[in-house]
Amino acid sequence: MTTPIRMTRERVSADNKRIINNDRTVDINQLVPIKYKWAWSFYLDGCNNHWMPTEVSMQRDIEQWKDPKGFTDDERHIIKRTLGFFSTAETLVGNNIVLAIFKHVDNPEARQYLLRQAFEEAIHVHAFQYIVESLSMDETEMFNMYREVEEIYNKDEFTMGHTDHILDPKFTTMTQEGIQRFLENLVGLYVITEGIFFYSGFVMMLSFGRQNRIPGTCEQIQYILRDESVHMNFGIELINTIIQENPQVWTPEFQELTVQRIKHAVELEYLYAKECLPKNILGLNPDLLKEYVQYIADRRLERLHLPKQYNAANPFPWMSEVIDLKKEKNFFETRVTEYQTGGALEW
Ligand SMILES: [Fe+2]
Ligand SMILES: [Fe+2]
Repeated sequence: MTTPIRMTRERVSADNKRIINNDRTVDINQLVPIKYKWAWSFYLDGCNNHWMPTEVSMQRDIEQWKDPKGFTDDERHIIKRTLGFFSTAETLVGNNIVLAIFKHVDNPEARQYLLRQAFEEAIHVHAFQYIVESLSMDETEMFNMYREVEEIYNKDEFTMGHTDHILDPKFTTMTQEGIQRFLENLVGLYVITEGIFFYSGFVMMLSFGRQNRIPGTCEQIQYILRDESVHMNFGIELINTIIQENPQVWTPEFQELTVQRIKHAVELEYLYAKECLPKNILGLNPDLLKEYVQYIADRRLERLHLPKQYNAANPFPWMSEVIDLKKEKNFFETRVTEYQTGGALEW
């Protein structure tokens, strides 16, 4: 939302700033004084993590993918399904930020991060376009998958269902119900899509990387995973701050509804994982993926101060190592460039 600038000698006080429903005594164009230091710090982390897909060599991936013996049919299926899911999911996320979230988040430091995040989503879309093109995959097959494969469609449809209310021109965050719908959107985007729906894909793809297969693709997935961890951490901070500033909306009923949505997402993610990987391949199987998705869902619930639902153990402790990127080399050691990072990531 924009408001006219007015001439005044009254200066902005950080105390008056809010994430949403800014009382308009605070200029939304004025970043400083910063109230939400975490938002600025996530913005700096994002900038420090900058990367471009075309910096990553796809040569070995191309050789391996062209080799008829390079992958079994089941392995090719997993790779295609994962790339097919991500190639449109990243666009859905970018659109949600620009069209649904940005308008209603009035705070300039949070908007600064959203602008950075929107660009990162464009980089992620670019990464999947670059991978699909490099491997000479059928582009129409890959980019239509979200309409043609039920398990992918169901996830995307669930994600987009959280955006419809917000896109209604009459939507406002000035009512309790409006704030709840907005929080639903934020949970749908940051906790469910970026925090749950991406993760069985990350595990499946990075399992190839651990065998030094499709290393260029896996290096890009690793950077995406790092970016997504920051996105999710920003989103959870945003959600918790909005709740803190509007505690009346966080009713027991709304908390229960949020838990139920997350549980439904876990179910959809399991069905998707089972479709991609119906049997034991790469040391993975549908049951292990289910356990992992339940484990990360519990972590997300805890961050929202909601009760854990599964008490599952982490079957892939190596994933924590990939996410902790404070290393001299990246996890797969395909390049020596170290991007800076703003600190250990909680994920
Ligand atoms: Fe992304
Ligand atoms: Fe993201």
